[in-house]
Amino acid sequence: MTDIKKGLAGVVVDYTAISKVNPETNSLLYRGYPVQELAATQPFEAVAYLLWHGELPTEEQLADLVAFERANRTLDPAVKTAIDLLPLEAHPMDVVRTAVSVLGAADPAAFDNSRESDVEKSRLLLAKIPAMVAYDQRRRRGQGLVEPRDDLDYAHNFLWMTFDEEPDPVVAAAFNVSMILYAEHSFNASTFTARVITSTMADLYSAVVGAIGALKGPLHGGANEAVMHILDEIGTAQNVGPWLDEALASKRKIMGFGHRVYKSGDSRVPTMKAALDTLVEHYDADELAELYDALESDFVSRKGIYPNLDYPSGPSYHLMGFDTLTFTPLFVAARVAGWTAHIMEQAASNALIRPLSEYNGPDERHLDGHVPDA
Ligand code: SDX
Repeated sequence: MTDIKKGLAGVVVDYTAISKVNPETNSLLYRGYPVQELAATQPFEAVAYLLWHGELPTEEQLADLVAFERANRTLDPAVKTAIDLLPLEAHPMDVVRTAVSVLGAADPAAFDNSRESDVEKSRLLLAKIPAMVAYDQRRRRGQGLVEPRDDLDYAHNFLWMTFDEEPDPVVAAAFNVSMILYAEHSFNASTFTARVITSTMADLYSAVVGAIGALKGPLHGGANEAVMHILDEIGTAQNVGPWLDEALASKRKIMGFGHRVYKSGDSRVPTMKAALDTLVEHYDADELAELYDALESDFVSRKGIYPNLDYPSGPSYHLMGFDTLTFTPLFVAARVAGWTAHIMEQAASNALIRPLSEYNGPDERHLDGHVPDA
């Protein structure tokens, strides 16, 4: 009997030098650095550079990336036209997936798979996705496009373009932490999708569009949106017990909990929870904090399944003022750094990714009814 590894659980398919997810030590390293150290000290732009190039940028290298990112933040007219063709009810993940596809289709260098060209495309996507996400939330609210400001860093400018007001430093700091924590996580489903597409020698944009499709699912990136829907559904800390009784009785997955690799808790959660705590204090959101704690303690005590990064991220983005539907596109904006690092790593030492399958369909049979000899 063939040993099928459903969902590739536990299967090591390749090397990566980009990040190390270690369930034994419950740790996450980006190019060797603990993600907690990076989140506490670096701007997201520097972490993107680290993931792409393997080292933190020098002052000059960071200045070059920052200058490029700030010079390329505007929403391309063709991309805005494409977004405006989509109904306001379109899911924001479909909008950002379409927008990236338009950007790629319009890029004459799309099929130049050289590393130099892929670095340029990676930097361009890092710069362009915030404008796509910010504009889509604003148009759904009946608000107009806000032009970027080149006097603001990545996090502050993302908030500026979304809310058209001076970004609050507490919010910008928490947002920067969330971008760093979401940036990379080895061979997760969306990253592996990007690597499979890259392995056929398709272009970087095609790989990113595929990765966005994979991230949308609530078992993966869509969980941060689902967390907020669950918290809204429960409403108050007092309702957690009865709500969980019913949810677990109907075998419902509680999004924001559990992980394929981490089994005793997601290494990133304490850092994101600390960021959430600053937002709770800043906005006097004690009721939300009580609901958050009540659901976590009750579910963990019942099932021994711990929160993942999406659990603290959802309420954090809610307190920052983002629509719930915008949460997973924020994950896209961050993870595009990790996806493009993996795309370049895959391309650098490529092998077509094509696993085997064990056939369990009908035995050979023929239209004329004859049965082949055994
Ligand atoms: C991300 O891979 C990555 O690194 C992803 C990510 C990244 O940074 O890229 O970390 C981001 O995607 C985090 C995960 C977000 N997803 C969710 O929050 C969705 C809810 N979580 C579950 O669906 C689940 O925990 C998975 C999919 C995340 C992991 O599932 P596994 O490893 O395939 O384990 P499983 O689903 O087989 O669960 C084992 C048991 C099952 O019970 P039985 O059927 O054996 O009785 O635990 C149960 C599951 O039903 N279980 C849950 C649960 N998670 C696991 N039951 C209820 N709610 C949950 N959240």
